[in-house]
This record gives sequence, C-alpha cells and structure tokens, in this order.
Amino acid sequence: MTQLNENVTLTQAANVQLLDQVIAAYARTDNERWNTLIESLLRHLHGFANEVELRPEEWWTAIDFLTRTGQACIGPRQEFILLSDALGLSSAIDNLNNVTMAGATESAVTGPFYAPHSPYIEHGGSIALAGEGETALIRGRVLDTEGTPIAGAELDIWHTSPNQLYAVQDHSQPEMNFRGKLRTREDGSYAFQTIKPIAYPVPVDGPVGQLLNKAGRHPMRPAHIHFIVSAEGYRSVTTQLFTRGDEFNDSDAVFGVKGSLLIDYQRNTDRSLAVDWLLDHDFVLAR
Ligand SMILES: [Fe+2]
Repeated sequence: MTQLNENVTLTQAANVQLLDQVIAAYARTDNERWNTLIESLLRHLHGFANEVELRPEEWWTAIDFLTRTGQACIGPRQEFILLSDALGLSSAIDNLNNVTMAGATESAVTGPFYAPHSPYIEHGGSIALAGEGETALIRGRVLDTEGTPIAGAELDIWHTSPNQLYAVQDHSQPEMNFRGKLRTREDGSYAFQTIKPIAYPVPVDGPVGQLLNKAGRHPMRPAHIHFIVSAEGYRSVTTQLFTRGDEFNDSDAVFGVKGSLLIDYQRNTDRSLAVDWLLDHDFVLAR
C-alpha cells in the first residue's frame, strides 16, 4: 500500500469512528422519532462531506449561504421556505404526506406567501381590491369522493396582484388584496371574482435568487391561484390551480405543477356576467 492510500484509509477509518461518536452523543434520547431523525441527518451530513471530500472554503461558502438565507427572513419574507421550495424539497415532503385518495383533489406546496386571517367574502364577491387586469369569475362546487356536495366547506384563497407581487410582499397594495375566504352554500357551490393571475418571479434579490442564477434557472412560477379547501370530517387540501398553456408550467421555479391541477379559463360570452373569463372547477375532498 502506498503512503497516500494508507493516509486515505486512516482518514476514512477516523471519520467512521467520529460519526459513531457523534450519533451516540445525540441519538440516545427517550424520543424514538427524534433519535431516528437526528441519526439519519448526521449520517447524510457526514456522508455528504466524506463523499465529496468537502474542502474548508466550500464548507465556509455553505455556512455563509445559510447565514444570509436566515438574515433575509425579515417580517413576512421567508427565504428558508423559498429555498426549500426551489430545491424541490417542499414538493417532496408534500408528496410524502399528502397521499391523494382516489378521486380527491391533489395537493401542491403552500409556498412562502400564505398569510392567515384573510377576510370572509360573500358568495360571488371579489378578492381584487386594487389592480388592473382581465377579470375572472371562478366558480364550482366542493364535493366528496362520491360526488355529494359539501355544504359549509371553507376555501382560503390567495394569489398575486397583476404587478406580480403578493400583498404580503408589497406594502403599496391593500393588506388583503387578492386574499379571501368563503364558505360553500347548501348545494356545495362557491363563486368569487378576481383578476386572472399571471406568471410571476419568486424574489431574486436574496440568496435563493443567487442560487437560481448560479444554476442558470429562471425564477418564474406559472400563473396559479392558491387554495386551502377544508370541511368538517374531511381531509383538507392545500393546493394550486395552474393555467393550462402557461409557458412556465414545465419549468416552475419551485417544482409545484401537477397535471391534474391544470385548468382552463373560458372566455365569457354571458352578457349578464361582467367578467372577461370564466373558470368552472370542482374541488373534491376525501373523508
Ligand atoms: Fe404563488
């Protein structure tokens, strides 16, 4: 054995022993789930460093990146959720934890721009408080997997303004712009008006923007509306409806698009409705 090979073997043996020590130091609580999580995390972290033979300057670059990601989390801005989204981790966790029951609406990631406490609106009311664009009436029913309408189901809705920003990102908008909740009527129906959403970029002025740039990825999300649909006795679903034909559906910056969530707006030809577009869509909840 050459001196170099012997040194590499000694280093590997030292790191195997080191990892055993570290795992033993952390994964010995009386909480089994914690022990499982921390042991696996340590094995993957150490395994990564060993596999790529991580250099000090690369480790420091990673520390600096994570430090700046934390520093970018100010007020409602959540750069870590955005990082998780942009790495596809949020969608992976969504897939793991939202096994779609046959016939039920599929889930999609929540994203970093959800805000609780949106105001309730009337059936047919508008969530557009400010902003210019093509108007849309979105309507349908919330059903169970047998097709029975669910009365009193709640829809919590949010999407970007036509200026490509959510109200939580943009203090020039009314706080509740393009946000609202409504409940289905006795026949399970819901309806609200808004401005048809357009594609928008995720924030690129922070570390995640630099990451996307480094990878040569664009920051765009295809046009979509976020929903959380819930009803007593049913599994609630956090999801998004994506406009079919959007140029970014195949390259969503956060890997959120699912085929079953592509929807078609129709040009409104009903003169009794003062909107440009109609979208008819039913949500289906499983028990
Ligand atoms: Fe979004």
